[in-house]
Amino acid sequence: MKIASYTAYGGPETIAITEAPTPSPGMGEVVVRVRAAPVTAGDARLRSGRVPRGVGLLLRLAIGLRRPRVAPGIAFAGEVAGIGPGVTAFSPGQPVFGLTGFKGGAHREYLVMKANGTILPLPETLTFESGAAFFFGGLTAAEFLIDRAHLAPGERLLVAGATGAVGSAAVQIGCHLGATVSATASPANHPLARSLGAVEVTDYRKGPPPGPFDVIVDVMGSLGWQGARSLLAPGGRLVLITADLAQMLGSAIRPHRDGRRVLTGTNRDDLPAMQRLLALHQAGGYTPVLGPVLPFEKLSEAHAIAESFHKPGNIVVVMS
Ligand SMILES: NC(=O)c1ccc[n+]([C@@H]2O[C@H](COP(=O)([O-])OP(=O)(O)OC[C@H]3O[C@@H](n4cnc5c(N)ncnc54)[C@H](OP(=O)(O)O)[C@@H]3O)[C@@H](O)[C@H]2O)c1
Repeated sequence: MKIASYTAYGGPETIAITEAPTPSPGMGEVVVRVRAAPVTAGDARLRSGRVPRGVGLLLRLAIGLRRPRVAPGIAFAGEVAGIGPGVTAFSPGQPVFGLTGFKGGAHREYLVMKANGTILPLPETLTFESGAAFFFGGLTAAEFLIDRAHLAPGERLLVAGATGAVGSAAVQIGCHLGATVSATASPANHPLARSLGAVEVTDYRKGPPPGPFDVIVDVMGSLGWQGARSLLAPGGRLVLITADLAQMLGSAIRPHRDGRRVLTGTNRDDLPAMQRLLALHQAGGYTPVLGPVLPFEKLSEAHAIAESFHKPGNIVVVMS
């Protein structure tokens, strides 16, 4: 089978696709024939080592000083190619989707998963491509809006950077939760932001809508506390999806400011979080936006698009 690996921290050219033996399932395991996998902002950051200021050393201590010692690919959709002894929850040929998480390994043709791990049956409402795109931005948006910011019906939500993986999920989930959603996006993406449910959209290069907002999801951290404070209503919550080390420490030490709150951190990627997102999808509250779809052989090209941070929705590579 074909399998991708990172040879060094660096540009998309550091990705190698080589041949490896096709794996067999062990006790309690499932082998998935991967049909599609996303290439996310997270993949681009792990490969390049380019992360918000102050986080670089922590990243390298976690995944490797000289090269990323994680396997490429954090999510997948495909079909069950084999089941190991003791597996009853899945059957050969069944469409599935899931997460390989931080340790990666989805950018390959066959993948071994624990049957009781982060893998679920793919619903008929999702294709392999949209199933691959499903979890990354959706889990982040759901956790920050529901569990962290406690977005309530009737509140006003601004999603700054509304049409990438996280932003496009935040607009949809915000609308589903009963908020009135405003957005910023580059002009070419204004129709997409409106189609997702945003009632007003401005170009972030010119400035955000006037507010006030109860919750602001600052996807790229481009507003920050200084840019967001005058837009936040009393009791408002600022979610910095992208935050540097100082902002993370600041939000931990002094989360409450002027009667408002700053939230940073990372989201969970466990089975309950995945099941909650699936329930949101089935209730009509979230469907991933699919952007460019490229063949697996063009994985490096997909990484180059991902690290632009200007992609519409999600990029997916498909295995033939
Ligand atoms: N905290 C967490 O747990 C977590 C989880 C997932 C992702 N992230 C981080 O969140 C960020 C976004 O991830 P993503 O997958 O959504 O990326 P993405 O799909 O590339 O989307 C980036 C979005 O940001 C917009 N944007 C770019 N520059 C901007 C600026 N200066 N001001 C306002 N908006 C701007 C883009 O808009 P246009 O395309 O219209 O230019 C696009 O909508 C990344 O930094 C990623 O590492 C954090």
